[in-house]
Amino acid sequence: MSNSDPKIEQLNQMRLRSAAGGGTRRVEKQHQDGKLTAHERLDLLLDPGSFREIDCFVVHRERNFGMDHPDRQYLGDSVVTGWGTINGRLVYVYAQDFTVMGGSLSEAHADKICKVMDMAMKNGAPIIGLNDSGGARIQEGVASLAGYGSIFLRNTMASGVVPQISVIMGPCAGGAVYSPALTDFVFMVKDTSYMFVTGPEVVRAVTHEDVTFEELGGAMTHSATSGVSHVVANTEEDTLFLVREILSYMPQNNMEDSPFEPTKDDPLRTEDELNNIIPDDPSKPYDVKVIVKLVADEGRFFEVHEHFAQNIVVGFARLGGHSVGIVANQPAVLAGVLDVNASEKAARFIRFCDAFNIPIITFVDVPGFMPGTQQEHGGIIRSGAKLVYAYCEATVPKITIMTRKAYGGAYIVMNSRNIRSDLSFAWPSAEIAVMGPDGAVNIIFRRELAEAEDPDTRRTELVQEYRDRFANPYVAAQRGFIDDVIVPSETRPRLINALEMLQNKRDANPPKKHGNCPL
Ligand code: HXC
Repeated sequence: MSNSDPKIEQLNQMRLRSAAGGGTRRVEKQHQDGKLTAHERLDLLLDPGSFREIDCFVVHRERNFGMDHPDRQYLGDSVVTGWGTINGRLVYVYAQDFTVMGGSLSEAHADKICKVMDMAMKNGAPIIGLNDSGGARIQEGVASLAGYGSIFLRNTMASGVVPQISVIMGPCAGGAVYSPALTDFVFMVKDTSYMFVTGPEVVRAVTHEDVTFEELGGAMTHSATSGVSHVVANTEEDTLFLVREILSYMPQNNMEDSPFEPTKDDPLRTEDELNNIIPDDPSKPYDVKVIVKLVADEGRFFEVHEHFAQNIVVGFARLGGHSVGIVANQPAVLAGVLDVNASEKAARFIRFCDAFNIPIITFVDVPGFMPGTQQEHGGIIRSGAKLVYAYCEATVPKITIMTRKAYGGAYIVMNSRNIRSDLSFAWPSAEIAVMGPDGAVNIIFRRELAEAEDPDTRRTELVQEYRDRFANPYVAAQRGFIDDVIVPSETRPRLINALEMLQNKRDANPPKKHGNCPL
């Protein structure tokens, strides 16, 4: 059969028809709205020439509402599916095509997504969804809703088996938001993407609130306020570039070890700056991200949830080429206190790392849990328990570095020895105690202070005594709760050595159907 054979000519024509999506006018509108088409997005996401499309001849099945008219039969329907590679590694993808009936989800559209999800599960590779859709295909009614159900089921089954990433690149409304919410990481594009269960008009009718799309469910709302979105970028290009980058820290599936990327950065590199980073005044803040970047290979840190619950920092880095998850209290924001949002943010990240065999490095400088009715009534007990649960349950290598304060319940929660930390190091500046010196002195010396001639001077003396006696790493080190007190400048070589020592760690939890993580 030559290339000019009519059958091959017909095939080429059909492929072109499928690639044209909803046609020139709708593609232009998509561009005018500051958005790329499904194929253009996949070209940016995947290695050049690696995309292999399947199901490009699928059409929707609805025959009512004029849907059987040839003009309404779009080859491929409103989603483009297949696989390709990112930095040479296999990924499965689907990209909703807004130019075809607003990317709305028909039964056939859902089947196409389910097919690539099933392939991702069977062949052990990540699945990435590019979402840009008006939601359930109104003409298809319950068949469309059923399609969502099939996707949610697969999202849940794939959870912890292959990494799942959702990129929101347009509208994502109604129950459709729950597929991205079930995945591991949600990326959003500023100004052109939004997510909400009910849109501004319904909100106005029901609650009489006047709210814009952006305020209700824009990228910054979900990045900074709700925490639904983990990563946000200014343009579609930047967002897709970040998706490529985050995948480099993850294995292909839960059976693989976390990836190793050779580095030119010396594993024995010391950093004198770390010796001076902790301020003399214990109440003074500093930026823990500086520590993370000084320690990490080539100073690279991929932060997740950058704008949400900034009192804790989470993200990916490499140490001596080994991919690691970083969890760090942030003294520069609310003194690094643990609150509802910070606990949930860290717990979810820890569970991702554990599911995908990524060791966890924890930097501790935490004054405790946030006090107050707002937090208590908001469920800090429930949320704090999620963090405890996540650390206790995790069987990957877990290493702790206490840089300064590790007080009370927060000491225990932040990967302490008794919740299965493999190695706990402290800097000489560490203060490990049941509570901070001021609080402790006020309680244990209440009577003495009440009777003192000059209570303020006596309090200062007692605080200093307490600090000398308890607020240091040596009491914990004497008991073996800390394995070593290390020179801060040597943190990088010590961590890399520890990771290599723990490389073959095998640990397991008791057999069970599943635990009952306090949700
Ligand atoms: C069928 C749809 C559609 C839908 C949009 N279109 N949404 N077709 N079903 N859900 C079609 C439009 O008819 C139009 O077709 C094309 O897509 C582009 O839509 P426009 O309205 O012209 O675009 P725009 O102005 O950018 O507005 C986008 C939009 C709006 C905000 C998404 O279309 C919209 O509000 N759509 C309805 C959203 C919705 O209520 N969906 C159902 C949610 S409930 P033509 O032929 O003119 O190009 C739901 C339940 C899920 O999803 C439950 C899961 C468990």
